[in-house]
Amino acid sequence: KQICELAYQGASTAVGLAEKLLNEAIEKHGAEASVKYPDTAYKLPLVTALSGEEITRLGDIVPVLKRIKENNLKPEPELGNALLSGEATLYAGEIIEALRYVGGAKPDEPPYTGFLPDPILRKFGVPLVDGTIPGVAVITGKAKDAKAAAALVKDLQSKGILIALVNDIIEQCIGENIKVGVDYLTFPLGKFTQIIHACNFAARAGLAFGGVPKGAREQMLAYTKRRVPAFVIALGELDAVTVAIGAGALFMGFPIVTDQALPPELQIPGLLEAQPDYDKIVQLALELREIKLKIVDIPVPITIGPAFEGETIRKKDAWVEFGGGRAPGFELVRMCGADQVEDGKIEVIGPEIDEMPAGSVFPLGIMVDIYGRKMQGDFEGVLERRIHYFINYGEGLWHVAQRDLCWLRISKAAKEAGFKIRHYGELLLAKFKSDYPAIVDRVQVTLITDAKVIEEKIAIAREKYQARDARLKGLTDESVDTFYSCTLCQSFAPNHVCIVSPERVGLCGAVSWLDAKASNEITPTGPNQPIAKGQCLDAEKGMWQNLNDFLHSASNRTLEEVNLYTLMDRPMTSCGCFEAIIAILPMTNGVMITTREHSGDTPCGMTFSSLAGTCGGGVQTPGFMGIGRRYIVSSKFIVADGGLGRIVWMPKELKDFLKTELTERAVALGLGDDFIDKIADETVGTTEEEILPFLEEKQHPALKMAPLM
Ligand code: SF4
Ligand code: NI
Ligand code: NI
Repeated sequence: KQICELAYQGASTAVGLAEKLLNEAIEKHGAEASVKYPDTAYKLPLVTALSGEEITRLGDIVPVLKRIKENNLKPEPELGNALLSGEATLYAGEIIEALRYVGGAKPDEPPYTGFLPDPILRKFGVPLVDGTIPGVAVITGKAKDAKAAAALVKDLQSKGILIALVNDIIEQCIGENIKVGVDYLTFPLGKFTQIIHACNFAARAGLAFGGVPKGAREQMLAYTKRRVPAFVIALGELDAVTVAIGAGALFMGFPIVTDQALPPELQIPGLLEAQPDYDKIVQLALELREIKLKIVDIPVPITIGPAFEGETIRKKDAWVEFGGGRAPGFELVRMCGADQVEDGKIEVIGPEIDEMPAGSVFPLGIMVDIYGRKMQGDFEGVLERRIHYFINYGEGLWHVAQRDLCWLRISKAAKEAGFKIRHYGELLLAKFKSDYPAIVDRVQVTLITDAKVIEEKIAIAREKYQARDARLKGLTDESVDTFYSCTLCQSFAPNHVCIVSPERVGLCGAVSWLDAKASNEITPTGPNQPIAKGQCLDAEKGMWQNLNDFLHSASNRTLEEVNLYTLMDRPMTSCGCFEAIIAILPMTNGVMITTREHSGDTPCGMTFSSLAGTCGGGVQTPGFMGIGRRYIVSSKFIVADGGLGRIVWMPKELKDFLKTELTERAVALGLGDDFIDKIADETVGTTEEEILPFLEEKQHPALKMAPLM
């Protein structure tokens, strides 16, 4: 009861404040002034999601607030009313925050992130669905002391939980040298109502991935409750507004743990529970949200977790650096016979880190020998690529590129914490065994820092790389009779199905045909199922009977047919975590591609975020399609629509990224070795009118192709 009263009070305060700020803003900027968050397709996402009201101008907010005030603020102390108060608080928070952006203001100073734009949401799609990020913690308030705050956040980081921080805990963490920021999966949102950015993040997951229609309130609440594994940790005193915000979290289905000693009658079992013992908070929160963790104990003196994947280590902070062109370096996963692998063995050939002076450069070879009864030669490359991720998970470890181009750093802090070269081995051993139990029975790791030995072993590695590349070249859609499904993203996009073929990588870019094959070997009943192609119905567009049948049942009967090689006719659906989007440009008779990394305008009149908002949620939208970057240089790239020659625009960064392969493909297709220069980019223009003269001048092939539509 008392909680309900507090929620009502808090909601009234929040709505009152929103009203006051809104009036001030209208006075200052006028009712016509536009109001929106930066880089999102969903306007004010919570309002869009819950009521579908279109807010673009300040004046649009007035009736929304009025409605909320009338319908949601009910003083009778009942749980239902408390949840309505919570909803009102969400609206108020969303409005108060949006007002801060009026007039294109950039209200947040680093480290505060404020609103999290759509590309960040989309970027975390795959790690959230594949369990790399098992849950989302929203921590608000102030911990009893800074040490406790740091320990709490560190614990969650080591468990791979994505974290949003609000209020004083941010300063507490920074003071304790906890790494925060988007790169560390730890978002310091800001103060007070900025907690709303965690809620509108969740709502956008429903809109972007879940295909929940705008304004479908009940459907959205079911989505966030069932599919967004978020929970709230509320630290410090519970005042009325905090309770009202908490009611908002409960309204969305997110349970709350508080460090305050609430008497039992003030707790709501399963939803709002108290745990004053900081050592037990995380465990309780995970239990309430039913998040199960796969705990791997890795005997290294640094924290391991996906939170550190994006960490960069600058040269001046590095104790030692390997490879990167300044010294030889390579990494190699080899499939070996049972008697060639001594399980758990780690050998360092050459100097250990103690013999390396600060700031030095050394060669490094990483050889991982694997025996597994179900291991296949084809999986070597798949597993080898994991080395990059596994090493980056280490706090103070940095890894870029791959094979004999790899480049690594160990930070001074990690060295001081006691990190040794041999710990690379411990890390790789533990991760390979825990992530690939079905194909990895025995592992041994050899780390080479001796220049002489490297020379000899790098030759073995290079031979392997060449053989693998030759095998990949021969791996075409025609050369196999089985494709794989990927339905990993169904946990967020329930009707979405990717079909992964040798020449079409999953739209997230993270699942190739070989990855899918390996994953099926590991979890035969998992998200990657083999589909024998069966009878071909249309060779040009890429349609097969068995793929259709699979799609029909796997999409919960929402889709009947799919073409793999066109975007114009029953194309593959998009879930939301695509690396790039392809869209038609009718005036140019071609297509454009933009990427998650490119936030600027594009010739179809939309930014990546707005464009992404139009396709997703597992529906077919002819003319628009999410794709993986590598599909662009595949020989099956929209062949039925004319293929590579259709591309008239892409961001410069993507051109540079694909340059070599794109040019190779263009030459093979007879488009000439200067084809890439005929593709316009943002420096040429960002409207169809602007780029058309350029395309004409360059005699872009799309202009002469058969009409696209
Ligand atoms: Fe999601 Fe498709 Fe990538 Fe699988 S391949 S993780 S379904 S985007
Ligand atoms: Ni049907
Ligand atoms: Ni996805």
